[in-house]
Amino acid sequence: MVDKGRLILKNVNVYYGQNQVLKNINLNIPDNNLTVVIGPSGCGKTTLLKCLNRLIDEVEEARIEGQILLDSQDIYDQEMDVTQIRKKMGLLSQKPQVLPMSIYDNIAFGLKLHRSLKKAELNQLVEKYLHLAGLWEEVKDRLNEPASRLSIGQQQRLCLARGLAVEPEIILCDEPTSALDPQSSRNVEAQLQNLKKNYAIVVVTHILRQAKRLADYVAFLYMGELIEFGPASEVLTSPQDPRTRAYITGEIS
Ligand SMILES: Nc1ncnc2c1ncn2[C@@H]1O[C@H](COP(=O)(O)OP(=O)(O)O)[C@@H](O)[C@H]1O
Ligand SMILES: [Mg+2]
Repeated sequence: MVDKGRLILKNVNVYYGQNQVLKNINLNIPDNNLTVVIGPSGCGKTTLLKCLNRLIDEVEEARIEGQILLDSQDIYDQEMDVTQIRKKMGLLSQKPQVLPMSIYDNIAFGLKLHRSLKKAELNQLVEKYLHLAGLWEEVKDRLNEPASRLSIGQQQRLCLARGLAVEPEIILCDEPTSALDPQSSRNVEAQLQNLKKNYAIVVVTHILRQAKRLADYVAFLYMGELIEFGPASEVLTSPQDPRTRAYITGEIS
């Protein structure tokens, strides 16, 4: 049983125009754990993540019904501050999007927006978040170089560090390693594993092996429906639904 539901979806439906892409989703995302959402391409994984931090608001033709509760508050309530919600829930996207500035400034930029800091404090925080993302050792001697000179794998960890710098509580990742080579992928996965003790992490992937490596909990999404959710050991090894079984054995992909 999932006891520590931090983020709760209740009867969530999402439509793009006439097309319903999420169908009555009920899901309880546990804190201090890593939840992996798996499912074939087009099943609604990215849409689900976009609902969680209200990026779906930016999609003109999208309409959402139902409730998404963060600490018992519906994030779609009129009075909720969208900026605050997005601060609480950082999103790491498929392709790293570093800012066109130095490695240092990629982290410092966000920090300076929210608080006024002395140079020494800023330096300390930049180091802290680069450490948290497992990048510090690789970049400590080149902080003033443009971030674009980093390898793609390093750029993704820089984006992770930048996301952590705004002190989120929940980390959402949409296929976070899909642009990375295997070595960099493992590195990003390792950082997510380290971080999950202190955050609720949701990772979307269509790579089953990645789900096996990372997941504490697994949600299987298929054609807009949440087919199965539970501890990874159960869902991945003895799925209850024939569709989950078919996906895991590779009969549907
Ligand atoms: N902005 C959009 N307008 C219309 N349809 C969309 C839009 N974004 C995604 N879709 C459709 O919604 C479905 C789910 O997409 P998505 O959430 O991106 O799936 P996944 O991330 O699992 O591949 C797909 O059929 C996709 O074509
Ligand atoms: Mg997607």
